[in-house]
Amino acid sequence: MFNLLLSYLNFYTYRISVPNKKENMENLQKKLGEVLGLERAAQKAVDELIEMKLLKSESKNEAKEIQGEASTHEEKIQEVASVYSEDKNVRLDVAKVEESAKETEEKAAKIMETYLGEKPDTSEALEFLCLAEGVEVAHYEVLQAICSNFDNKKALTSIKSILKEEQRHLSQCIDMAKAAVSA
Ligand SMILES: [Fe+2]
Repeated sequence: MFNLLLSYLNFYTYRISVPNKKENMENLQKKLGEVLGLERAAQKAVDELIEMKLLKSESKNEAKEIQGEASTHEEKIQEVASVYSEDKNVRLDVAKVEESAKETEEKAAKIMETYLGEKPDTSEALEFLCLAEGVEVAHYEVLQAICSNFDNKKALTSIKSILKEEQRHLSQCIDMAKAAVSA
C-alpha cells in the first residue's frame, strides 16, 4: 500500500511541474518587462492613431484618457519592479525587466504596422486598440498568477488594481469600436 502511495506521488511530481524559485524570478522579470513594454507601446499607438486622423471627437478624448492611465500604469510597474528588486527574497534585476520591455515594445509596434496595413480606417484603428487592450489584460492575468507565488502584498495589490483598469480599457475600446459602426 505504501509503495502504491509512493508511486502515486511520483506520478504527480512528473505530471505537475511547479516552477522553482529561479524560474519564478525569471518569469517575473520577463512578464513585468512585457507589461511595461505594452504600456509604452499603447501610449505611442494613441499618438500615432490621432496623428493619422483615425480617432475622432469622442473616441479621441476617450483614447487620450486611456493613454493617460497607461502612463500611470507604466510608473506603477516601474515601482513594482523596484519593490521586487529591494525584496531580499526576490532580488529582481531591473535591467532584465527593461530589456524585456524594449523587446516587447518593438514587437508591438511591428504588430500595429502589420495590422493597420496601407490604408486603415477608423474601425480598424479602434479594433487595433481592442487587440492591444486584450493583450494587456491577458498579460496582467498571467503576471498576477506569477506574483501570487511571491510573498509581497504591496506588489500584488498594485498588479490587481491595474488589471481591473485594463479590463475596463478593453470594454471601453470594444464599445468605441461598436459605436463607430452604429447608426
Ligand atoms: Fe490599457
